[in-house]
Amino acid sequence: MSPPSGTAGDGPILVVDFGAQYAQLIARRVREAHVYSEIVPATSTAAELMARRPSGIILSGGPKSVNDTPAPLVDPAVYDTGVPLLGICYGAQLITRQLGGEVARTGRGEYGRTSLTVTGSSPLFVDWPSTAEVWMSHGDAITAVPEGFVATASSPDAPVAALHHADRAIFGVQFHPEVVHTDRGRDLLERFLYDVCRCPPAWTHTSIIESQVEAVRAQVGSSPVLCALSGGVDSAVAAALVHKAVGDQLTCVYVDTGLMRAHESEQVEETFRRQFHIDLVHVKAADRFFESLAGVVDPEAKRKIIGELFIRIFEEVARDLVVAADQSATTRPAGVVGDPEPAGYLVQGTLYPDVIESGSTSAATIKSHHNVGGLPDDLAFDLVEPLRLLFKDEVRAVGEELGLPPDIVWRQPFPGPGLAVRIVGEVTPERADILRAADAIVVEEIRRAGLYRDLWQSFAVLPAVRTVGVMGDGRTYAYPVIIRAVTSDDAMTADWARLPYDVLERLSSRIINEVEGVNRVALDITSKPPGTIEWE
Ligand code: XMP
Repeated sequence: MSPPSGTAGDGPILVVDFGAQYAQLIARRVREAHVYSEIVPATSTAAELMARRPSGIILSGGPKSVNDTPAPLVDPAVYDTGVPLLGICYGAQLITRQLGGEVARTGRGEYGRTSLTVTGSSPLFVDWPSTAEVWMSHGDAITAVPEGFVATASSPDAPVAALHHADRAIFGVQFHPEVVHTDRGRDLLERFLYDVCRCPPAWTHTSIIESQVEAVRAQVGSSPVLCALSGGVDSAVAAALVHKAVGDQLTCVYVDTGLMRAHESEQVEETFRRQFHIDLVHVKAADRFFESLAGVVDPEAKRKIIGELFIRIFEEVARDLVVAADQSATTRPAGVVGDPEPAGYLVQGTLYPDVIESGSTSAATIKSHHNVGGLPDDLAFDLVEPLRLLFKDEVRAVGEELGLPPDIVWRQPFPGPGLAVRIVGEVTPERADILRAADAIVVEEIRRAGLYRDLWQSFAVLPAVRTVGVMGDGRTYAYPVIIRAVTSDDAMTADWARLPYDVLERLSSRIINEVEGVNRVALDITSKPPGTIEWE
């Protein structure tokens, strides 16, 4: 799959990563302005960057100081390429340092909201007021601009908070325009993209779909394509996109492990078979999973068993399909038969953050077992990864545009091993049923309260212990259910959600009254770290 490329204004914006989360946020903001962006490592040479025919280059923020030795640098040849450059925070200091200005350790950093005074005109500050609130996060400060540059803004502890070259398209800002707390930050980025780099706002969800449909068609030709559906957003969007590209060549496989959320299987059937008319192989394998999990309590052992069984089942289906494809191949006209055909293609819902994390934009990583890993060598699949250039929010938007129902597109993440890692202790069909029923109530009430999309995840956990209670005239001895609800941006860290008391009250009363086998509801108020989001 090839990324968009072209002539000036048509090529990507490259965001040079100096090792902080800023690069991803900047790349996302650029795409929100409908301009295609990619993250590239700071070690890229100017020639490598130019080979991408960029319309502009953004040097991002980073955790180091330009006064450190060694400090990460950009190949100085980029300054002579003529490609518009914008340095943000560390990037602005780097431009200053590499072009001969001064960056001092003033000993007075600025962190958080800061008042910026605009002191000169700049193509990036069109119609700005004389003061604006911006988000700062710096220890060092630019104290003298390089020759040929002018300073255009300052703040209490940044004598030069914005600068640009008088004749060349090189800009720097000390503050973070990508952060929502910066007034007019979005406007500043748009001025750089639209006016300086001359990029049209053409990266839309429709254009993403069109280009990926073309790329998938070009990649797979007339070969069969297989996709494992998990019920999650990524595999669903990938399948819908590939189906739009190659129609009946796609077969989807959905393995019901017995550890799915309530109504998940029906929803997959309804959406893919009935709405999209996709060839769907629905494998009902709950018995096999429960049998393999009998007596197992160790979380890692559970994961391993589920992963391996999933692969075995997927492999069985894949083999059947390959055999069927081979049989139909033998009936093809002479001349076509005999060409070594691949077994086919396998769709993966790999997203851009996975690609960046793997350290290389060309490395295809099959992630964890739930995404189907470790297929045997004699099933030689090539990977189709139609989402590998997209961030999660873009995937959801593409899913909506493709007509997937909101229930699938906005579904909260769900671990590959499913409810098994939310049952602390042995996984049994009875416990899975209890947890599924309690979980469905959590989801329903959270949705009813309008909180579902604000929360990263909200679900129920079932520790396999029993506690004493009293209901009616009788003593009960039943399971507790734990409510786990967290807010998060990326699942790396998370905070427990402050759910309103009335929502908690409804959850408690409905779970106890409606789910047989539960007599107590508790709330998990642990952040991550030190807790994880899941209980196992
Ligand atoms: P933790 O529990 O480590 O989870 O804070 C972080 C995020 O990852 C999800 N998760 C998994 N996803 N297979 C998956 O596909 C797994 O084995 C798995 N374990 C955790 C979890 O739901 C959360 O979003």
